[in-house]
Amino acid sequence: MFAPTVLALASLASIVAGDQCSGNGSKCPNNVDGVSPTYLQCNSWTHKYDSFNCPAGQVCFANPNRPGTAMCGLPGSGGIPGQGSCTGNTAKCVSAGQSGNYYQCNQWSGQYVNAQCPAGLKCHNNASNTGVYCQ
Ligand SMILES: *[C@@H]1O[C@H](CO)[C@@H](O)[C@H](O)[C@H]1NC(C)=O
Ligand SMILES: *[C@@H]1O[C@H](CO)[C@@H](O)[C@H](O)[C@H]1NC(C)=O
Repeated sequence: MFAPTVLALASLASIVAGDQCSGNGSKCPNNVDGVSPTYLQCNSWTHKYDSFNCPAGQVCFANPNRPGTAMCGLPGSGGIPGQGSCTGNTAKCVSAGQSGNYYQCNQWSGQYVNAQCPAGLKCHNNASNTGVYCQ
């Protein structure tokens, strides 16, 4: 029942396409984040990875919110393991008042990415705890 898809994508082989797999998990080629414009999706019928293209301009990342799956995102938007998903413009300090590092929601991927206050400023969570300011 999956044969048409398999045939259509068989030519997009990459280094680990064709490797054995089980279930319907996905991963980045060679398990390297943020590089490949393709991702590998386990074909639950053939039990081998098929290679698929990310949307133009995007690259493959391991999805920190769904272990065992990959996601496509803009380069640099890979998400931070353990920080969960996010929406909108939300941000949170890594260590409020202690350093300038914070996590900023990347709206496209719905994942937090690392961000930093301007040099010399510390991160503070704002009153509603949904954003930060630097001071
Ligand atoms: C596999 O597919 C099922 C049904 O679509 C889904 O519930 C499950 O989360 C998927 N597993 C992975 C690892 O993607
Ligand atoms: C906190 O920051 C978020 C994101 O910028 C913003 O939407 C929200 O209105 C801010 N809350 C307050 C109380 O300023």
